[in-house]
Amino acid sequence: MLDAELLLAHVLKTSRAALRARPERPLTAEQAGQFEPLIDRRAQGEPVAYLLGRAGFMDFELAVNPSVLIPRPETELLVELALETLADSDSPAANQDNIARIADLGTGSGAIAIALARHNPAWRVEAVDISKAALALARRNAQALGVGNIRFRQASWCEGLPPSAFDLIVANPPYVAKGDPALHPDCAFEPETSLFAAEDGLAALRQIITTAKHHLKPQGWLILEHAHNQQIPVTKLLATEGYRQIETHKDHAHHDRLIRARLGRSLTQPLI
Ligand SMILES: C[S@@+](CC[C@H](N)C(=O)[O-])C[C@H]1O[C@@H](n2cnc3c(N)ncnc32)[C@H](O)[C@@H]1O
Repeated sequence: MLDAELLLAHVLKTSRAALRARPERPLTAEQAGQFEPLIDRRAQGEPVAYLLGRAGFMDFELAVNPSVLIPRPETELLVELALETLADSDSPAANQDNIARIADLGTGSGAIAIALARHNPAWRVEAVDISKAALALARRNAQALGVGNIRFRQASWCEGLPPSAFDLIVANPPYVAKGDPALHPDCAFEPETSLFAAEDGLAALRQIITTAKHHLKPQGWLILEHAHNQQIPVTKLLATEGYRQIETHKDHAHHDRLIRARLGRSLTQPLI
């Protein structure tokens, strides 16, 4: 019902509230011709956000299309944790005129990068994705929202990023194990490269954890989203790779879904 209302409001170029205020309003033949195929596509499982071409994230809207993952509410929690981390007087950015350098790995629609860049126009954000189509959309989203402090980079994870440069690296990488029966059917419409990773879903997380440490400032932070059953292997990997202050955070359903860790290197130790 909610989906049908959203699609109808979209066709009629009105709000759901206006729709409810005049439910008896008949559709023109042209409007019915637009609405019915959308309902059919929704019935086939196509996500509403793709049908509308937009999705809400934090306090703004993003254009989305099938080249990007539809941003999820858990990822808003990642943004909130990132903002808390950067506001903490103990973080490196807080000591240097609050000009944080941040990298968002696997930016997709640009959701995380844009949310952080909007929060403080003085921060400098690198948004990385391997997908050219995703980056094109992320760039358009940043432009539409008037966000100018993001640099977009087509690369694999940390490839080509400067060493010891970032106060914070964040990532919501693909972490679903191939063949996971719990995957929601609507996900079939999202790009495989945004969902699935080898090694029981851990391959991308592993790659990011092992490389991000070379690109964080001493005392810099890494924040990752992961699947609800990956907290133990991700914690172990972070510890093995020398991160400290490893902290798990739960989503709204009380599942372990976010992890924050800090680079343990002292200022005088060599880089690698
Ligand atoms: C789970 S989606 C996250 C999208 C967005 N950050 C969000 O939270 O909504 C993962 C993203 O990682 C990108 N990706 C997959 N493999 C990559 C790689 N090797 N290097 C960089 N990005 C990659 C995908 O293209 C996809 O956009």
